[in-house]
Amino acid sequence: MMSYRMYDYLVPNVNFFGPNAISVVGERCKLLGGKKVLLVTDKGLRSIPDGAVDQTLKYLREAGIEVAIYDGVEPNPKDTNVLDGLAIFRKEQCDTIVTVGGGSPHDCGKGIGIAATHEGDLYSYAGIETLTNPLPPIIAVNTTAGTASEVTRHCVLTNTKTKVKFVIVSWRNLPSVSINDPLLMVGKPAPLTAATGMDALTHAVEAYISKDANPVTDASAIQAIRLIARNLRQAVALGTNLKARENMACASLLAGMAFNNANLGYVHAMAHQLGGLYDMPHGVANAVLLPHVARYNLIANPEKFADIAEFMGENVQGLSVMDAAERAISAIARLSADIGIPQHLRDLGVKEEDFPYMADMALKDGNAFSNPRKGNAKEIVEIFRQAF
Ligand SMILES: [Fe+2]
Repeated sequence: MMSYRMYDYLVPNVNFFGPNAISVVGERCKLLGGKKVLLVTDKGLRSIPDGAVDQTLKYLREAGIEVAIYDGVEPNPKDTNVLDGLAIFRKEQCDTIVTVGGGSPHDCGKGIGIAATHEGDLYSYAGIETLTNPLPPIIAVNTTAGTASEVTRHCVLTNTKTKVKFVIVSWRNLPSVSINDPLLMVGKPAPLTAATGMDALTHAVEAYISKDANPVTDASAIQAIRLIARNLRQAVALGTNLKARENMACASLLAGMAFNNANLGYVHAMAHQLGGLYDMPHGVANAVLLPHVARYNLIANPEKFADIAEFMGENVQGLSVMDAAERAISAIARLSADIGIPQHLRDLGVKEEDFPYMADMALKDGNAFSNPRKGNAKEIVEIFRQAF
């Protein structure tokens, strides 16, 4: 522990985990007083027969709850998605929001909850604890092991006019109930499993080395890193490997609980620019940047990087702290390469001339402030260049 200071620790009130956890969604909605739900999801998930959406609908209807559906959520969810969902929420006079999917439907659902209860533009609430009114109850049914938005106070949306991601961070965004059912993750394709898994690893690593880390977040982050190192390759290799899926779901949940409280760092601050400007999948953006930002951050906390090497299964016996810390970077890079993540921004349509703008915006991103090393725009451009 770096210093003695007060810290807070937030998680949703009720969290369900394990095979068939989805079966509680109807009864839990009823307990929250829900009579008419807006189910927020995307078209891909809705089209899967007997998938997460169909099952959620079944359990809600069995509990006597009416449901309206908004299925227009896009990846890197847009302010326009929120407004479209809000129109249905109001027209159908819904009282509860159930989000089904990975991070995008959860963030969009939080956005709808904010827009339904707060006046004015969503962008005006970007920042920390700007929300003044309670949101409608949110039940988040999670279907990917990655973003962990089902347990976080973060709502990340893209401003379609400026193409910049903005983050609304508030305890009011926390879903009332989170549901993590690994059986819903079995059918996910390998590239999505790889990208979301690297997002979870980035959460755990950034939370562990964060300036805002505390003993509780450290415990969650450590176990998340261990589980990811031991299970992500296997989940990518064989999606039906239930043990790997369950361990990755648990790792994602733990990493989410860690960063929800310890915050993140420059990987996310920079990845948000790639997501906003190029619509790059969030997990891929994180995965490409993580080893390079880790190298930059190494001198801020070599002991913790040496720990990470050990958690990832590296043999660090007899090594100096700095040598052990280096092993963390190579272990992260090897994991990323093993699961087929692209290794260079140049292969992902990124333009070098955008680096100075993205660096400026990254330093203004809310995640930059908990990074353990304080950087400037020139240094951030250099990290982008190394990842290029
Ligand atoms: Fe993330």
